Amino acid sequence: MTLDAAPDLAAATLADGRRLAVRALGPDDAGVAYGIIQKAFKARPVIGAQPQALRDDVTDVADAAARGGGYLALIDDEPVGVTLVTRRDDDTLRIGRVGVLPEHREQGVASFLVSVILDLLSARGETEVHLLARQEYPQIRRWWERHGFAVDGTEGDCHVMRRPLAVAASIPDADAMRALGRRLAGVLRPGDLIIATGDLGAGKTTLTQGLGAGLGVEGPVISPTFVLARIHRSAVGGPDLVHVDAYRLGSFAELEDLDLDASLADSVTLVEWGAGVAEPLASERLEIDIRRGLDPADETRWVFVTPIGARFDRAALVAAVKEPA
Ligand SMILES: Nc1ncnc2c1ncn2[C@@H]1O[C@H](COP(=O)(O)OP(=O)(O)O)[C@@H](O)[C@H]1O
Ligand SMILES: [Mg+2]
Repeated sequence: MTLDAAPDLAAATLADGRRLAVRALGPDDAGVAYGIIQKAFKARPVIGAQPQALRDDVTDVADAAARGGGYLALIDDEPVGVTLVTRRDDDTLRIGRVGVLPEHREQGVASFLVSVILDLLSARGETEVHLLARQEYPQIRRWWERHGFAVDGTEGDCHVMRRPLAVAASIPDADAMRALGRRLAGVLRPGDLIIATGDLGAGKTTLTQGLGAGLGVEGPVISPTFVLARIHRSAVGGPDLVHVDAYRLGSFAELEDLDLDASLADSVTLVEWGAGVAEPLASERLEIDIRRGLDPADETRWVFVTPIGARFDRAALVAAVKEPA
């Protein structure tokens, strides 16, 4: 087993205090990973044909691991989940075999594993990923939709689901975060929506300060935690900035009650803590996820900007997000 040697790629703390980590699958971990896939897929209700995953053998998993395309989720160092990412002959990337041991379900393991992998692929400069979801399982399709995937075609008895990957940047300090916000302002126009996600202190408000500066709105931009929403008028005849804090809003209905509608079409709107709440405001939007690394002493933030819908030109976004050389 190489499990002890592999460094954690990411870690989180579960509700019960245990540590959830993600590691790359080493060449010697294929047996462990294969066992998890078999147990996870056998535990699914059987509808129609046997899932392809149950026809794998351990060498398929070992091959994926050898190509650097396997990941393990561990709770307190015990492997509980796995997924494989394979590069297809047409050079596209496919996520498959997302499996969590039945006794470790319902704790967010699969969600964490998938979000870490999406971040990793983004950080490597990959632009899109897809997967196959069996059509008989609408709940699986909905699960992937919650992770930003959309159905785009069929293959056999499966939906093909695709997701654009984020444009990623590493941001060393608060000034660099404001500079990123200023650059992003350059690709925004009235009616645009940004949903910003990240723990308390991640830098959502700091990013918004740069956005406000770039848009030329009246400040100061400070956290709208208590007022829920604040409108910053443009000082330059451009769009206003609507800055919303959705932390206390449990639902889209409550967000609608803020009655922002009138301003949204003419403004740039940024919703902090907006994931899971603000999406219905706009089918085309930027989703920005801000994360810290594993070392608490390191101030660096990783910022992942995902364009949802055709509104945003990827090349322009890359130019704005990546630090000019
Ligand atoms: N790389 C960085 N990016 C953004 N903020 C940083 C960074 N390093 C340190 N900070 C500090 O972290 C804090 C982020 O706070 P804030 O923007 O209010 O976070 P949030 O709105 O996500 O809760 C600020 O005090 C900021 O100065
Ligand atoms: Mg904030």
